[in-house]
Parts: sequence; C-alpha cells; structure tokens
Amino acid sequence: MCGIVGYLGKKKAVPILIDNLKRLEYRGYDSAGVAVIKDSTLVVEKSVGKLSKLETIVIPKDYPSTIGIGHTRWATHGKPSDINAHPHMDCKGEIALVHNGIIENYLELKEELIGRGHRFLSETDTEVIVHLVEEFYQGDLLEAVRSAVKRLEGSYAIAVVSSREPERIVVARKDSPLILGIGEGEYFVASDIPAVLNYTRNIWILENGELGEISPSGCKVYDLEGNEKKKETMVVSWDISMAEKGGYPHFMIKEIHEQPNALRETFRGRVGVDGLVRLDFKNITVEELKNLKKLYFVACGTAYHAGLVGKYLIERFVRIPVEADIASEFRYRDPIFEKNSLMIVISQSGETADTLAALRMAKENGVKVVAICNVVGSSIARESDDVLYTYAGPEIAVASTKAYTSQLMVIYLLMLLLAQIKGTLPIDKIKEFVEDLRKIPDIATKVLEDLEPAIIDFSKRYYKAHDVFFIGRGLDYALSLEGALKLKEISYIHAEAYAAGELKHGPLSLLEEGVPVICLATQGYLLDKMISNIKEVKAREAIAIGFGIEGTEDLKDVCDEVFYVPKVNDIYASVITVIPLQLIAYYMAKERGCDIDQPRNLAKSVTVE
Ligand code: G6P
Repeated sequence: MCGIVGYLGKKKAVPILIDNLKRLEYRGYDSAGVAVIKDSTLVVEKSVGKLSKLETIVIPKDYPSTIGIGHTRWATHGKPSDINAHPHMDCKGEIALVHNGIIENYLELKEELIGRGHRFLSETDTEVIVHLVEEFYQGDLLEAVRSAVKRLEGSYAIAVVSSREPERIVVARKDSPLILGIGEGEYFVASDIPAVLNYTRNIWILENGELGEISPSGCKVYDLEGNEKKKETMVVSWDISMAEKGGYPHFMIKEIHEQPNALRETFRGRVGVDGLVRLDFKNITVEELKNLKKLYFVACGTAYHAGLVGKYLIERFVRIPVEADIASEFRYRDPIFEKNSLMIVISQSGETADTLAALRMAKENGVKVVAICNVVGSSIARESDDVLYTYAGPEIAVASTKAYTSQLMVIYLLMLLLAQIKGTLPIDKIKEFVEDLRKIPDIATKVLEDLEPAIIDFSKRYYKAHDVFFIGRGLDYALSLEGALKLKEISYIHAEAYAAGELKHGPLSLLEEGVPVICLATQGYLLDKMISNIKEVKAREAIAIGFGIEGTEDLKDVCDEVFYVPKVNDIYASVITVIPLQLIAYYMAKERGCDIDQPRNLAKSVTVE
C-alpha cells in the first residue's frame, strides 16, 4: 500500500504535493518522492525515510513548477531505498510515474523490456510500467498509458507526467484507489479523499479500468477503449480526521473493513495458471521443503495465534510435526532444533524483539527461517532466509486485524504448497482448496455486510459484561484465543479462551447465570463434541452464543443465539469467523467509550523484550 498524489494548477506544486502526501502517510512511510516539470525538463527528488526528510530536501529548492506528482511508499517489491522510491523514470528521463499496487507479471515484462534495450535501475515492480509507457509513447501520453496498462496484470493506481507534454497528468486505476479533486482552476490526484480536502471538497472517484487526463482546461475520464465517461462530482462533508480514517471513526474499524482487499492482495500472484500454489522462495530450495521433517511457528500476540492455525493445518495436511510457540517462551526453554526443520516467524511489524531473538537463535543453530511479515525491509524481513509478505498495507490500530487475516492467507498458501511438494494431498484436492481460497476475500465482504448490524445490536446488549468466555475445538480453539485477546485488549473486559474439552477441568466453576460464553463451532468433524460442551455451558445457566457455518441447524437447539458465516470449507472458517469476533471487540469497546486505536498500556510494535 502506498499513497500517490498529483497537482496541476497555478500555484507552486511542490508544497501542495508534500502537504497532500502528509495526509497519506498512513498508507506508507518508508520513502517518498516528487516529480515536477521545470522549464520543460523533468526534475525528480526522492529519498528513503519519512516524508519529513524529503520535505527538508525539496522545499528549500523552491521549484516554481505548477505541475507535479508525488508518492509515499510502503515497500512491496524491493527494500526501502532512494533508488526504489518513486517516482520512477523512463530511460530518457522524459516520463515520470508514481504507482500504488502490485504488478504481478512484472518479471516477464521486465525481461521483455530489457530485451528491447530498456535500462532498469530499481528492484521495483513499478519501474516496468514507466518503461512500457516509454515503449508505447508516440507523442500522446494518454494513448501510451492506455496501451501500457493493457499489458499489466495486478493492481495499480498510477499518475504519469512527461516533459514533452508539460501541461498534462495522466492517471489510471485497477483495484487500487484513485480520486481526482476538482478545484477552481486547479486539479488534484490522490489515493484517497483526505489528501485533498484542504484544497477542494469536489471529488471524482475513478473506477476500475478508467483512465483520466488533467490539463489546464479540466479533467477528463475515459474507459480502456478511449470512450469518454461522464463522472459525477461527489461533495465531501467529512472533517479531515474522519477522512483520514476513510470516513470511519477509528482505524481499527477501517482496517477490519480493509480485510477483503488485504486478503485479495496477499493471495494475488501466488497461484499459477495450473491452479497450483507458487511461493517466491529465494534461498530455501524445493529439495529442502521436500525433506522437511519439522516446523516451528514462533511469534507473539495475534501473530502467535496465526501460528497456531498453521500448526493445526500443517500437521493435518502435510503430516509433519509442527510446534507453535510464543517467542518469549521459545527462546528461554532451550528448544531442540532438529535436522531438516524450518522455523517460520510471524510478525506484522517485523520488529518484535522476542520474535527477532528467536529467529537469530534458530539461525545460530543451523535452522533456516522464513518470515511471514507485513513490513518490507524490517529487521525480521532482512534477517530471515526468506520472506513471504502479507500485503495488508500499514496497520495503524494497536489491535491487529487485517494483518492477522493476511497471515492466515499466507499460512493457507504455505500449507497447500507443502502438501503439493510432499505429495500429501492429491493434486485435484489441492486445486479445489486453492479455488475455495480464491473466494475467501469476497466471502469476507459478505460476512461484513451480513453480520455487522447484528453484531452492533449484540454489543449493545452485552457491553456491560465483566467476563466473557470463548470456547472451541481444533481450529476453533486457536480462534477462541484470538477472539478473547481482541476483546480484552481494547474493551478491557476480562475475556478467557479455553479448549472446549478443557472446560470441565476447571473453568466450568466460573460459569454462572448470565455469563456470556462465545461458542465457536465451525469444525464439522468436531460438531457433536462441541454441542456436548455447549450443553455443559447451558446447564450452568450461562448464555451460549454460537458461531457456526450456515446450515449447522443443530447449533440453534443448544445456543441462546447463533451467528452464521457463509458456507466455506472448514479449514477456511477461521479467517472468516474471526471477522465477527473482531467486530464484537470493536463495538463493545465503543459502547464502553474506550480508546480503541490506542488501548491503555499497549503498543503497536514491541521492540523491548
Ligand atoms: C503487539 C501488538 C499486537 C501484535 C504483537 C506482535 O502486542 O499490539 O497486535 O500481535 O505485538 O507484533 P508483530 O508486529 O510481531 O506481529
């Protein structure tokens, strides 16, 4: 996730571009850059580090230019560096481009373009776009961009300028957000609305497959075939702080709603045309994966809960022993590092001290490490032998939501890849699982649409609870832990998760009339056992709130109320059912007036041991 901006008008462009980029910094902040046209030449200024660094470089130069584009980066392909920062330029230095998104076929395009004599400077996927535009350029930037985007697979929102057409910005979008701001005699481009609200409230929202051009005479939008499209002007009434959160009151709820897209981006490009999983390992060989005898998932907090899901799935389908451990425990218990084993560390930030220490310990003991990580260039990403990135974009709320579901997406893909390599599942079954997984982002959207109103109502009825219990078996036990963690960390309600079969060994004594017990029952093969456990809950007059997959009618007979998620394969129930649990935590905390995005005593990134 990155932020892009553009300006064309009568004022100096650079201060406006920087000002607008500041409002997009939540979309990325590892490097930034601008391109302006000065005396018919293109000037590009870019720098690794926060936007403030670019600001100190570029503002004193006081460029008189009144047209420019800018970018704030959240690295996906290529580490944060001056060279990888946007804008990127063509070979002649006449075209500059900023991009938000991921180009899936960039490697083949890059090879093709190198073959045609193009010189590449960066490690980014983005650079292929600007060389493609150069390749197609015959005096009309809009036409060149139109031809170029037709060659792209993946997601993009781009803004392009050329010194040969110094009064024109061309934009295009597919699957990444892009808006145009219509001011008086001045026009803006941005990844989203908050960036331009200081200047205009009149907005055009670009749709997938649309291209736009901005010139002193106004903005025009076209489809890919070149037909002009009429756009409706949306007049935005939000204040800036609300707008930064996309109109939501908190980052957490915004990030909960970003999950379908985060899942889609994380899945994207990782399945071949043959319907099988492709993961980009650079240092770990297929042979090593084939000979794998043991896996260790090591992480902290929510990321550890994702590791637990990994344990259940990989033991079941890949048939190798898997340990899932909390990093701060793992490193001090003198663990046994076995031959032919692999450690998988999971971390949103890539900076968690205990996880990093566990990673180093494994490497010292000759065990290779793969990171599942959201931040490119973070310590964990750098020090691991290989990284499987989650493409969730920056997560700002302390309570992790979209990072967790994206971590699960990578774990599902990894499980399928290992089953493929080790031959523990028939190929047809793997393909079926892959196709089911492809549908998960859309199902996540449906879950949000269907369940949010009911969860709001539920939260209004239960927010005064002192204790809430979460129970489940198998994958639902891992899910219980995550549901309880979410609730306690932001609502400050005492919440406990138990393996449902363990209730009778102690916690049952805590149940009494009126205590809410969230009973997760998405695993068909464990349903009968789970129903018996729910009956134990009911016999103590506690309130049983069931979560199950559509069609599990039996749950209705034993629970006080039931929330159903759409029909999915049992193995994918966790990534779907966690969404209503996140919503329960959010809406209960909201009813209680808690500081949701920054809960007391907690931090987003824990770099102390
Ligand atoms: C903190 C955060 C959690 C996160 C955990 C691990 O406790 O508040 O949301 O799960 O750290 O962080 P990581 O960045 O390694 O995933």
